[in-house]
This record gives sequence, C-alpha cells and structure tokens, in this order.
Amino acid sequence: MVIPNIAQRRAAKLRHLLRRYNYQYHILDAPIVTDAQYDRLFRELQDLEAKYPKLIAADSPTQHVGTTPLTAFKRVKHKVPMLSLSNSFTETELFSFDKRVHDRLQMDEEIEYVCEPKFDGLAVSLIYKKGILRQAATRGDGYVGEDITQNIRTVFSIPLKLQGRGYPNVLEVRGEVYMPMQGFLALNEKARANNDKVFANPRNAAAGSLRQLDPKITATRPLAMYCYTVGEVSGGSGGESQWELLQHLKKWGLSVNEQIKKVKGIKACWQYYLTLEKKRGELAYDIDGIVFKVNNFALQEKLGYVARAPRWAIAQKFPAQEALSRILDVAFQVGRTGALTPVARLEPTFVGGATVSNATLHNMDEIARKDVRIGDTVVIRRAGEVIPEVVSVVKDKRLKNAPRVVLPRQCPECGSDVIHPHGQVVAYCIGELYCTAQRKGVIEHFASRKAMNIQGLGKRLIDVLVVQGLLYNVADIYQLTVDQVTVLERMGKKSAQNLITAINKSKQTVLAKFLYAISIREVGERTASNLANHLGNFTAIEEASEECLQQTPDIGPVVAANVYAFFRQPHNRRVIKALLEAGVHWHDVGVQPITEQPLAGQTYVLTGTLTSLTREQASAKLQALGAKVSGSVSQKTSYVIVGEDPGIKYTTAKALGVPIKDEQSLLQLLQKY
Ligand code: IVH
Repeated sequence: MVIPNIAQRRAAKLRHLLRRYNYQYHILDAPIVTDAQYDRLFRELQDLEAKYPKLIAADSPTQHVGTTPLTAFKRVKHKVPMLSLSNSFTETELFSFDKRVHDRLQMDEEIEYVCEPKFDGLAVSLIYKKGILRQAATRGDGYVGEDITQNIRTVFSIPLKLQGRGYPNVLEVRGEVYMPMQGFLALNEKARANNDKVFANPRNAAAGSLRQLDPKITATRPLAMYCYTVGEVSGGSGGESQWELLQHLKKWGLSVNEQIKKVKGIKACWQYYLTLEKKRGELAYDIDGIVFKVNNFALQEKLGYVARAPRWAIAQKFPAQEALSRILDVAFQVGRTGALTPVARLEPTFVGGATVSNATLHNMDEIARKDVRIGDTVVIRRAGEVIPEVVSVVKDKRLKNAPRVVLPRQCPECGSDVIHPHGQVVAYCIGELYCTAQRKGVIEHFASRKAMNIQGLGKRLIDVLVVQGLLYNVADIYQLTVDQVTVLERMGKKSAQNLITAINKSKQTVLAKFLYAISIREVGERTASNLANHLGNFTAIEEASEECLQQTPDIGPVVAANVYAFFRQPHNRRVIKALLEAGVHWHDVGVQPITEQPLAGQTYVLTGTLTSLTREQASAKLQALGAKVSGSVSQKTSYVIVGEDPGIKYTTAKALGVPIKDEQSLLQLLQKY
C-alpha cells in the first residue's frame, strides 16, 4: 500500500515529539506535557502505524511495548569484556588504592576522580549503530551474556534512538538496569494481593523482570537504567575523560545519574562517600557503595588492568545492610498509646555498621505472615537510621518444635489486660495511666524535639524520674527542681541546672506544637497544625463538638472522636490546667477567614531542599493560605514542590502524574498573596 505523504510526515512529527517528551519525563525528570496529552499523541502514532505497517521503524517510540515471547535467550559475545571492580571496605583501603595509583603513575599532585553511586541492579550493554538501538545484552560471565534486546526495548528511560549529534557510529553504552524503590514496593504490594511471588529486594525484582521470555511482562515492570561507561566504540569518540563521557552520554539522551561528582584528591572522595552514605535512604533507588574512577582516560590507560578489574577504579562498599541472626526470644514493648510491639531478641550481629541485638517484628500479623518462631534463623536488616527489622525466616534452618510467638494476655509492664480488637493489626494494653510504660512514652513524646523540645530530657532520664516517682504526668516536669535532679545518678549540678533551664524555656511554645505534644490518639504534627489553624485557639478546640472538629481539613470521624474524647477525660483536663498554671503559653494564631485562604482545598507535598526558605517555613506559609501540607503523595495531591536532590516523593509524583512545581514557582505563588 502506498503511504500518503501526509501520513509519513505526521508519523515523523509524532515520533519526534514523543521522543522529546519521553526524554523530558524519563531522563530529565521534568515533564513538559501531561500524561493525557502524551497518551493522545502516542495512540495517534499507534493508529497510523497500524494503518500503514510499513511506517513502523525499529526506533519508533511505540516500539517500547513488548512483542512476541521468546523460547530462549540467544547468547551474545562481548567484543570488549565486561569487567568487575575491586572492592574496598575501609577508609584505609581507599587511601591505599590512591597511593597505588600515585605510585604507578609516578605522580605527586592530587588525582582527579569521578565519584559515582554504585547502583544495585544488573549490568547491561546497549549497542547503538548510527544512533539506533540494535542490541542489548546482560553481563553474563563478563565475556558472554544473553540477548535481552526485546526486554530492554520496553524500558522507557532507554532511548531507541540517540538524540543530538556527534555520537560514534558504533557506540556500546554500559550501565545498570535497576528498579526504583517506589516501583518495587508497588510491585510487591500487587503481588501480595494476588498471592504471587514477592521479590526480596529491588535488585532481584529487576533481575527477574529482565529474565522474562515474554517482553509483555517486562513492559509492566517499573525498570530504569543509569549509564556509566562504554564498551565498543568506533567511528567517533566519547571524549577524553570519564566526566566528559558522562556529559556526552547525557547529551545523547541517555540517563546519567544526578549524584555524580568530579573531585580532586582522595580526601574529597572519602567526603563524598560519607555524604552519600547519609543520603542513601532518601534516594529513589538502591545503591550499595560508591565507585571512584580516575577521570583522565590517558591516565586510565597507563594504569591498565589487573586480573578482571581496572587499576583505575575502586568500589567503596557500604556496610552490608542485611545479615543472618537467630531469634533468642520475643519480647513485647509497650508504647505511649499502649500498643504492643513484638521485638525479637537476637544473637548480637554486626549489620549496617553496628551490632544489633534487637529487631522489630512490627505486629502479630507480620509475625504470622513471615511465620516467625522462636529459635529461627532470620535475615535482619538495618538501613541507616531506620529501626532494625526482621525481614524473613530461613525456613531450612528451623529447629524441630520451634515455639510459636504468643501475644501475652497481660501487659508485660503493668499486668493490665491486653486487647486485640477484631480486624485491627495492633494489640493494646488497656492500663493507660496505670501503665508505667505508657506514662513514660507520653512524657518522652511531650519532651521530644518536634513537641515541646526540652533538651536533655531524654528516654533514660525520664525512666529514672518516673521510677523514682518524681514524674507521674507531663505537668510534673514543670515542678522539678535543680536539687531534685542533682541527686540523680550521673547528673551533676551543672547538668541539672541546664535541664531546668531547658524546661523553663519550653514553656514558650506554639499552639500546634502543644496540641501535638499532649498525645491525643492519632493527632500527629500535621493534624495538630490543622486544628490550630482552623479553630484558632485552644479553648475553641477543647470545647468543639465532634461535628465542628470534622470541619477541619484532614480530620475524619475517628480523629474527631479521639480529640473530643480526650478533652472529656477529667484527668486530661487536670493535666492541661496544671501545665497552663505552670506557665506554658503560646500566641494564638487566630482563624484565617475563608476569604483569606486562597489555597483552601489544595494539598501540597514538599520534597528536596529548598534554598531560600526551610521546608517548615514553606509549610507554614502554605498552611496560612489555607492549603493542606501532606507528607505523602497520592492521587489527591494538588502539587508537589520539588527542591534540590528530591526524594522518593518526586518519583511517586511523576508516576502518579501529579503536577510538579519548583521553588521559583512556589515563591511566586507565596508572593502573590
Ligand atoms: S564501572 C570496568 N560504575 O558494579 C568497570 N560499575 O563490581 C566497569 N556498578 O559489573 C564498571 N554502579 O554492574 C561501574 N557507577 C558504576 C557502577 C558499576 C554499579 C556495577 C556493575 C559492575 C559491578 C562491578
């Protein structure tokens, strides 16, 4: 069939537009059209190609969609072997690496390195010929891999056609295919709901997705790729250095990670390692270390290779976040709300850079789901600041008759009954104020940084003060004297004085923090702030009916009932009276009339670092204009404000198609009102 000129031109135009939109969305993280607009153009191109099949080209954006299943993967020989990296686990090892580099090069001056995250995914090779993706392969044993071209074509962040100019005739790009954290969690959630296999981590999920013989399945998996090196290159060049190469790859439309940095000297490399290790948990993807590469290609060549690894690069590994341990016993901890949390007492195990002897089991449902028994060998995980948890049980190592974990009938702290309401995940001690654990928890929360911020009044000291009978409720804090505190163990006169000063300082607060501090069930920071902004003063909140409370943004019948019930308890009223009499005070915010709330009904989420104001300041300003500020992104989010180095919320926003604003637009918005 002859293809009319107009159809040819339209198809070319659509391809051009869709490629550009893909690039903006998947590579630059800065979409310029809505999903609906994209879908409309995509469908138009699909329709055209269906009508005129000859129009279909291998590099058409429609070809990202899976084709027919394979029966087996073809083997592919790598023209340039895909090598691995030497590892370093300590600062000393890293500095010795740098010394070796200096010695071999006989250079005194500091070496320029490129620092890159070590992505925890699968190494993949992509061959572009004249800019068109022709072959994709796994690393395999480094010499022979498997042809996964069909599957790779379904990954949207991998261009089927390079953009710009100046790319070599044959360009083999190498990098890591990975599954973003958010996508991994969603995939597992879906699998759990369908009783399908869940993946242990994003790496396994990425591997499982790439090894599908049916590309239609791969197409449903949220995969992405970061490019970090090249293999075969002919008819052109990638530049003179690693840094230049990465800039070229980016320019040609390939995805290059945004955390990469060029530094001088190994000290700066170590600094980069420490900084990124801290940030690791906030990244939208898993990394298991940092790779340092000598930047200059001429120097790389001089250094050469040893065995199967280059002498010009090293992988500085993070301490393993998962390890095996054994459950010696399971104890139940009682929190401030009375919730019982099962905690595994473990054989002390080194993991994530620290020795761990306790790990949370979350709740009884989780214990049942993972089928955890006492004596089991388990995988534990400690990631950064997160509480260590039991991830899974190694069933093969279970001893015969390993006892099951039983929820105690009585609270281990106060002996009151434990209730496990039907259909609820959490079990509670009903002891309330009778329960020392609950009282300690309430006091700890009251003194914590985001509540009354009493510096020096931490868990350990509160334990002592409660046990000694000096603190019964939160109001007692303001009756403590220097003399009473001085006599406590490990508390000199000076620290006692500092504590009392901090206590007095905390008396000046703000209504939202006070509301948050007094431990009303399910009233977190955000709800407290909404209550304060909506009702304006404490008496109004204390006296509000449930209906009236429900008028507050974000407050449904359950929270309204909790707030209402809290203020009906004579005990709570007494404690609040005592707090106010002791001098706790704040300035009322006053209710913003509806007309002065131009952002009423809108929900904002903030992510990343803002440069001209803090996130707290931005939240306060948005709330003052009537907006709700939420901590997580959902379909209901109106806008996500993205600062520098945004976290997972940014990825989620894009996945859900939530509109995104940068700091500049936020400032303009705030200025407008
Ligand atoms: S460069 C010859 N850069 O680590 C050096 N590798 O242990 C080629 N990896 O097989 C690799 N992130 O799968 C390089 N930024 C990065 C990396 C990286 C992850 C993986 C890659 C490689 C393995 C080596």
